Amino acid sequence: MGIVVVFPLNKKIQHGGNLREAAMLYNIPLENWIDLSTGINPNAWFPPEIPHSVWQRLPEADDDLLASAQQYYGCKDLLPVAGSQLAIQSLPYCRKHSRIAIVSPCYAEHPYWWQQAGHEVLLISANEVEQYLPSIDVLLLINPNNPDAHRWSLATLQHWHKQLVERNAWLIVDEAFMDSTPQFSLLSHYQHLPDGLIVLRSIGKFFGLAGIRLGFIAAPDHILHKIEAMQGPWSISHPTRWVGALALRDTQWQQQTNLAQQSDKLHTLLSRYFKKIHVSHYFCYLPHTQAKQIKHQLAKQGIWVRFFENPSAIRIGLPKNNEAFHQLNNAFLSIFCTNLLK
Ligand SMILES: Cc1ncc(COP(=O)(O)O)c(C=O)c1O
Repeated sequence: MGIVVVFPLNKKIQHGGNLREAAMLYNIPLENWIDLSTGINPNAWFPPEIPHSVWQRLPEADDDLLASAQQYYGCKDLLPVAGSQLAIQSLPYCRKHSRIAIVSPCYAEHPYWWQQAGHEVLLISANEVEQYLPSIDVLLLINPNNPDAHRWSLATLQHWHKQLVERNAWLIVDEAFMDSTPQFSLLSHYQHLPDGLIVLRSIGKFFGLAGIRLGFIAAPDHILHKIEAMQGPWSISHPTRWVGALALRDTQWQQQTNLAQQSDKLHTLLSRYFKKIHVSHYFCYLPHTQAKQIKHQLAKQGIWVRFFENPSAIRIGLPKNNEAFHQLNNAFLSIFCTNLLK
């Protein structure tokens, strides 16, 4: 059954990547940790030296970032944003009071911001979408999903979009983790976005560039204009635009980076210890009644993973190299072979 969400205004949303907190809590120096708490490519794209002029000049909207993105995504109706997070925060202000269903478990920032903007937010499960479709104004889902790696086919999403748009309702698809499987992206099908369809993309995950804060929103013009007006002239820095454009044009690196192979390797390792594993190219998600204890035992050995309370699960990102794989395996061996979970 879908549930209506109410977030307390001051609730702090948990995220991965909080390694300083881990270092404090477990008294292990920052540099000794293996951080598997995020879902980003651990072997990131690295920029060449950044020219001085790029640090000095103000960002220019007519540089080649947009053209590079249009080429990369195969879609024209794009707006760069300071991380897809910025689009997540802005979209709820582009609609009057609405009833929005968000497929859950999900990236918690989505329900949080729709609720803060005063909308009625329902958290539904993947198999409840058909049931809720006739009575909602917005359907929002993450494809592939973070954290549980659930995937929807293009045909299913297009079918739902058709039903929604007839009632002026929206389908929002967050494709932050789509880059390694572009054939499943809605953007590969639309040069121009039809009414009622909004897609979010991130530079942080596939390129491993979470720190530069760059993402894109693809949407019909009137929505892009609203978001552009909200974010103002300089919310994306010039260095970010410069680095982002280069990464988007680096087809050689894009073809060489092999997340699928790394995630297969992680899956194989985890299947020695876990029965239920949801696999994505960026992380594995493990529902487990003792998830909290597993996270704690891994942390004691300097491995930081993401814990989810409801449902009880951990999410493990891709180790960077063979040594990190080895350390993860040793940590699980010690946890499961010496009954540390008792
Ligand atoms: C599903 C999903 N969408 C969007 C974001 C925001 O990403 P960014 O703002 O770095 O593009 C995240 C961050 O973890 C995410 O997990």
